[in-house]
Amino acid sequence: MKEELEGLLVDIENRSFDSDDAVEEFRIEYLGRKGKMKDLMAQFREVAPEHKRELGPLINKVKTAVEEKVAAEKASFNKNSKATSSGIDASRPAGGFPHGTHHPLQVVRREILGIFSNMGFGVVEGPEIEDDWHVFSGLNFPPEHPARDMQDTFFVERDPDLLLRTHTSSVQVREMERREPPMRIIMPGRVFRNEAISARAHCMFHQIEGLYIDENVSFADLKQTLLHFAQRFFGPETKIRLRPSYFPFTEPSAEVDVYWGLETEVDKRITKGTGWLEILGCGMVDPNVLEASGIDSKKYSGFAFGMGIERITMLRYQIGDLRLFFENDKRFLDQFAGER
Ligand code: DAH
Repeated sequence: MKEELEGLLVDIENRSFDSDDAVEEFRIEYLGRKGKMKDLMAQFREVAPEHKRELGPLINKVKTAVEEKVAAEKASFNKNSKATSSGIDASRPAGGFPHGTHHPLQVVRREILGIFSNMGFGVVEGPEIEDDWHVFSGLNFPPEHPARDMQDTFFVERDPDLLLRTHTSSVQVREMERREPPMRIIMPGRVFRNEAISARAHCMFHQIEGLYIDENVSFADLKQTLLHFAQRFFGPETKIRLRPSYFPFTEPSAEVDVYWGLETEVDKRITKGTGWLEILGCGMVDPNVLEASGIDSKKYSGFAFGMGIERITMLRYQIGDLRLFFENDKRFLDQFAGER
């Protein structure tokens, strides 16, 4: 039996294979249910005890030699991956799908919506092509207001009543017309203005609008809501300041700044050297606006705010040029692979 085993070792050593299938046949020849190893074990049981000590390790050696040969040959077939006649290499390991990345504006948008959702605001979207009523008239813009100028707004040539919305405040009007108070909603979307494209301005950008209407809503509610937002988004120590301002659709109106700091060139550029970042406009919804949408302004009051998300995103990720957001250069986008 010893010679037989030594012969097998030589045989195993010298075998060569021209395909994966041939390796598998070889494996079955030795290790299969009716294979050579099975016979050897049966013979071994009959061997006289004094020979077992010598033959046992030799049988094991045969088995190991087969296993190693099979593993090595299979690996080499995978590696050399011989294509079949159809040109398809079915043995090639799958490459995995390349993962896309979240756009930085999307990351920030989602985070802002999440903070307001937690405060009970529902998300609502509206159309990007709007009519004059929802963008201007319904928001108390007088007929001669400069925002209506072709210099500032893209109109649809075929129909002068249609235009690309210049702000998401238009969605407020739609919702106030559609629903009864109380309402607490947050409205993200793309807006368009006729601006020359540069590092700091674009003809398209993103806003998030908020609206809360109920009985007895006060300016203190507005301020506290915005402070809570700023501290959730920018950090618990964040300071905000409100500056009086003017919008046709709110009275009183304010602009809100957040203290960001002045550490980098991007900080300096975007905060215009002050460290304060203007993040949004806001105010108490003008009674004219409530009435224009059929809401009783004696019974209800509300606050509204609108923020741009590009500037916040530029500071958070230290992006110096607004145009990068819209070019979809993979080298730019790949840098946000870790962001959720
Ligand atoms: N719509 C304004 C803009 O685009 C932002 C804004 C200001 C929205 C005050 C509001 C608001 O809802 O109350 O500049």
